[in-house]
Amino acid sequence: MRRAVCPGSFDPVTLGHLDIIGRASLLYDELVVAVGMNPSKNRLFSFQERTELLREATAVYDNVVVDSFDGLIVEFCRQREVQVIVKGLRAISDFDYELQMAQMNHGLAGVETMFMTTNPLYSFLSSSLVKEVATYGGDVSGLVPDAVHRRLLERVRATS
Ligand code: PNS
Repeated sequence: MRRAVCPGSFDPVTLGHLDIIGRASLLYDELVVAVGMNPSKNRLFSFQERTELLREATAVYDNVVVDSFDGLIVEFCRQREVQVIVKGLRAISDFDYELQMAQMNHGLAGVETMFMTTNPLYSFLSSSLVKEVATYGGDVSGLVPDAVHRRLLERVRATS
């Protein structure tokens, strides 16, 4: 079975993430979307919320499963017997760090990284920007799934 993992923080999942997930799901028998717990980072959504929102957003894809990991992504790959990590590249600015991670992951465990170019419609899109714009009252309805949009508005109202 050809299996790949698409890891990320997904705080929250955006239409850019879903574009990559949907396209990668066509290339593999199973695509595991892995939510990194990484408690050290400052998150708007809890790990449970991020996972729940991703499950809802990817429910239309039969061969996509949502899972979580804590620690090294290559350890998760080893446990799940996955040889390939899929990452989206929005712009050249993503490339430096992604290249370092890809080379490190290959050096650590022989895990390959496949880069997919983001749909230009979403090349400016990031979870961080979505959170910032929503926090200041900007309209992010066309950038995230509806369920995420509702949850963002609730969170922004609760914290303002
Ligand atoms: O959505 P993000 O925040 O860009 O995702 C980054 C993530 C979680 C994919 C990356 O930080 C990661 O793989 N973290 C797991 C820890 C790890 O393996 N670090 C070494 C990478 S070379």
